[in-house]
Amino acid sequence: MIRDGADGDSPRSHIYIFYIMEGKELTGFINWNELRKAIISEGRKGRGRESSEEMWDKRAKEFNKSTREKSDRTEEQVASFRLDPDWSVLDVGAGTGRLSVPIAKRVRTVTAVDQSRGMLDCLRENIAGEGLANVTCLQKRWEEVQLGVDIEPHDVVIASHSLGMFDLQEAVAKMDAAAKRRVYILTAAGKWFFDDLEEELWEREFDGHTRRGGWRSDYMLLYNILHDMGIYANVEIRDAEHVQRYESLDEAVGRWREMRDIPEEKVEDLREYLSKKMIEDENGLVSKRRAKSAMIWWPKDEGS
Ligand SMILES: C[S@@+](CC[C@H](N)C(=O)[O-])C[C@H]1O[C@@H](n2cnc3c(N)ncnc32)[C@H](O)[C@@H]1O
Repeated sequence: MIRDGADGDSPRSHIYIFYIMEGKELTGFINWNELRKAIISEGRKGRGRESSEEMWDKRAKEFNKSTREKSDRTEEQVASFRLDPDWSVLDVGAGTGRLSVPIAKRVRTVTAVDQSRGMLDCLRENIAGEGLANVTCLQKRWEEVQLGVDIEPHDVVIASHSLGMFDLQEAVAKMDAAAKRRVYILTAAGKWFFDDLEEELWEREFDGHTRRGGWRSDYMLLYNILHDMGIYANVEIRDAEHVQRYESLDEAVGRWREMRDIPEEKVEDLREYLSKKMIEDENGLVSKRRAKSAMIWWPKDEGS
C-alpha cells in the first residue's frame, strides 16, 4: 500500500508509476474480460457437465414462482428505465418475463431472448395470462443471435441478472450495437447476498466454493470492461431485500433444493439451516436476505 508522502517502492507501484510517467493510459493495463473468463472457468468446474440451458430449464418453474413474489422490486426496476409508449425493447436473458411482461404494458413491442425453453415457456404463459400480444420470443443464446438476421436494433436493450456469457465484452458490444437509445444492465454489487448464513451454507456444503453470484456477477468487472471499451456508463447501487414465503419448512426445503442442486445427503443440513434462517408469521415461513444490486446504463447519444 502506498501512503501519502511515502515512496511507492513495491514492484506493482513502480509499474503504475512507469505507466503514468510514460504518459500511458491505465486502460488495458488489466484485461478485465480475460480475468472474468478465468473466474467463470474456475466456477464451472463445480457444475459438472450440466449446461446453463439445462440448469435454467430445471429451475424455471421455481424461479417463476419466486419472482412473482418480488413484484415491488420489479415495479421499482421497471420505473427506473426510460420507456416511451412507441419504443421497442429487447430483453436479453429475459427468463420468465419478470421484466418483459410489465415493460410490454408500457411500450410498443418487446423481444424476449433467452437460451432456456423452460424459462420461455413460463414467459409465454405469463404473457397469455396478461392478455399481451406485443411480445416476441426468441430461444437462442445471446452469443448466437445475429443482429440484422435474427433481430433488428431496438430502442432500448435490457439485460437483468442474465450475464451468463463467457465473453462479456463481446456480449455487451452486441447489446450496444443492438440499442438505438439506451442500454440498461442489472447485476449484483459485491456479493450476491450479504448474509452470513447463506455464505456459511455454501462453505459447509461446497468446500468454500460459492456457487451463485460471487465475483463473476460483480458490477465492477462489467464496469471496467465497459470503460476499456470507451463506454463511460452510469451506475446506481441499490439495496435490495429478497423476501420469499413458504407454507411450511418442507416446502422451503424442496424449493431451495431445486434452485441450488443440494444433493440428497445434504438435505438434513439444509433443513437445519433453513429452520434457523426462516421467520415464522401468521401465513407460514418467510426468508429475508439482503443484497445490493447495480443498475449500469448508458445512452447511445446525448439526449437519448
Ligand atoms: C437469473 S435469470 C434472470 C431472468 C430475468 N432477466 C430477470 O431479471 O428476472 C437468468 C436468465 O438469463 C438467461 N441467460 C443467461 N445467459 C444467457 C445467454 N448467454 N444467452 C441467453 N440467455 C441467457 C438464463 O437462461 C436465465 O433465463
